[in-house]
Amino acid sequence: MSAGLRRASRHQEEKDDEVPQWIPGLGQDKPKPRTLGTSFFGYVPDAFVEKTPYLPSEQSADALKKEAAVEPVKAAEQVADSLEQEIVPRDSIERNGQRDMDASSDEGVVTEEVIVPRRVGQASAEPWDVLSPVDIEDGSGSAQNRLLIKGGRVVNDDMMQDADVYIEDGIIKQVGTNLHTPGGTRVIEAKGHLVMPGGIDTHTHMQMPFMGTQAIDDFYTGTRAALAGGTTMIMDFALPQRGESLIEAFHRWRTWADPKVCCDYAIHVGVTWWSDKVAQEMEELTNEQGVNSFKMFMAYKDTWQLNDEELLESFKRCKELGALAQVHAENGDVIKENSKKLLELGITGPEGHEMSRPEEVEAEATNRACVLANQVGCPLYICKITSKLAASALGQNLRRGTLVWGETIAAALGTDGSHYYNPCWQHAAGHIMSPPLRNDPQTPGFLMELLDVGDLQTTGTDNCTFSAAQKALGKDDFTKIPNGVNGVEDRMSVIWEKGVVSGKMDPCRFVAVTSTNAAKIFNIYPKKGRIAVGSDADIVVWNPHATRVISAKTHHQAVDFNIFEGMEVHGIAEFVVCHGRVVVEEGEVRAISGMGKYVPTPVFNPHVYGRLEERERANAPCKVERAPYEGPVAQLNGQGMQEGGIIPVQQETFYTRGPTRSGGVNLHDSSFHVSGRQRDDDLLPRTSIKLVTSPNSSSSLLGTFW
Ligand code: URP
Ligand code: ZN
Repeated sequence: MSAGLRRASRHQEEKDDEVPQWIPGLGQDKPKPRTLGTSFFGYVPDAFVEKTPYLPSEQSADALKKEAAVEPVKAAEQVADSLEQEIVPRDSIERNGQRDMDASSDEGVVTEEVIVPRRVGQASAEPWDVLSPVDIEDGSGSAQNRLLIKGGRVVNDDMMQDADVYIEDGIIKQVGTNLHTPGGTRVIEAKGHLVMPGGIDTHTHMQMPFMGTQAIDDFYTGTRAALAGGTTMIMDFALPQRGESLIEAFHRWRTWADPKVCCDYAIHVGVTWWSDKVAQEMEELTNEQGVNSFKMFMAYKDTWQLNDEELLESFKRCKELGALAQVHAENGDVIKENSKKLLELGITGPEGHEMSRPEEVEAEATNRACVLANQVGCPLYICKITSKLAASALGQNLRRGTLVWGETIAAALGTDGSHYYNPCWQHAAGHIMSPPLRNDPQTPGFLMELLDVGDLQTTGTDNCTFSAAQKALGKDDFTKIPNGVNGVEDRMSVIWEKGVVSGKMDPCRFVAVTSTNAAKIFNIYPKKGRIAVGSDADIVVWNPHATRVISAKTHHQAVDFNIFEGMEVHGIAEFVVCHGRVVVEEGEVRAISGMGKYVPTPVFNPHVYGRLEERERANAPCKVERAPYEGPVAQLNGQGMQEGGIIPVQQETFYTRGPTRSGGVNLHDSSFHVSGRQRDDDLLPRTSIKLVTSPNSSSSLLGTFW
């Protein structure tokens, strides 16, 4: 147990005898006595005896290791059968440059073979389906798979209720009071706790190859850390290199993720270059692989950056396929130019990163992306907004009717860009990410308020971690510092602290911005993002009273640095349930690699596309019916130049009304005509203008022109 968590538990013990204080200050009803009813469970013998069965999550570390040594082989066989995968020897994985997952595992999953999917199966599923479940334990509804979370306050995005939650085989089966549950059901006492949907981190990059190196948190350490913090699903990005097949990149990411993930995951695919083949592959990914969002980069010039024409093409394609277009919104051309200038000035340290990418560079790209997407009627999602200006640009477009959604990240909500100016190079470089954090202490609060009012909707982390040694690749040149920070573990706590504890948002809004909105926008709601009958049992039992101090020394991530170092946060994921399994228990993580599942995301999401059809009908361009033009037409020669001299201008009159009765010009006629000809063209031009000076000032600069 980490020092921070030990401290949290002590804190909790001290509070055990107290009446739980609900946030924000509501009292807790006494649990009502249970009575035998006539429902199905009423006839289950022992239905009201609360037992705590022997779950794998409660086993000792030794027992867990023994189990794990056997289980993955079984799991491997199942996976190979159901997904047409091949089992390849571990050393071939290492030859491919992938870190052995066991090296990063302290949970003791001893895998002698690693599963590599050749090509995953068909995944164009409904939101309720999950692609090819890889169940480590049998899902036959045994006592092991029954769980009751009792006495907590259930929080959804739209309501809170004091209710118990009964789970069977990974699915929520009942929510309410006085539930009848079968014997042998394990009980988690949640009195004084909030019972919320597990977090969904919309933006991660586990083990991503980037800037010559590879992110140090892989799909095992990263998703295990996610669970530790109350996040039960991540959305990662498969990013092909320029010219590379999108489908191959997608399968490579699946190959990396499937054997390692401890929580569920979905994949967004990057459109990092453009061609007919890319357009065709996008279709295959949406139809067959459960991908419903594509990300385009407006930054990273010379690698992933698309120009406006390519952006338009990709937006049009997303729209045809019913997918959501995402953008990394920063102007890569300006960044390249600025970086060059700064390096020439001798500014080589991390501060150069922030200086080269000012807020307006992010805001310009945000606005441009909104305009381009709106012009072709494509719904748009702006990733990881870090600045006030960019968030405001998004808000303006939103209010003009653009179909756009905005994500911000834990880093931008929990810390700021003053760290780039820290005299310690390592500390400053540890905060490098793009778009950068802003050197303004007001920005985090501003972004949090936008989440509360709904101008921004989701929170990710852009979790893409590099150790100090990896960051040092850019020790003499800030443009070479690998971009990326941590966050997957601490996102929920940071948002709780800065959002709820600060009084900016209530627990329902917290749920909305940490899970529900993401589930809606990526079309997996209400399977995810809701505590309701039929939803996946991905649940966090949140202790709002406990505190911990965030530190790289105690976090679960592989990276040796934490951008939130030293921050004391209230709110701890005391129990985390993923697919009905207790994976965090009183702060102890008991995750198993490979137990997470790939979650396909279906296209034509009604939440995203619902308004589009009607809107396009309502706003369809209308032709003006008019008599054909019958006057002379200028002739162009082969060089596109006019031939035959100037055609004399016809004497036409612009006036539609005759002169006034006294013979003057009818002032209802405009003096301006769209042809460019004006009604006073025949008069000599005036040689001067009259300047009227302000009566209050002698300065001619304050004058007005007539
Ligand atoms: O700094 C970041 N965000 N690194 C990962 C790549 C990206 O921009 O998403
Ligand atoms: Zn990213």
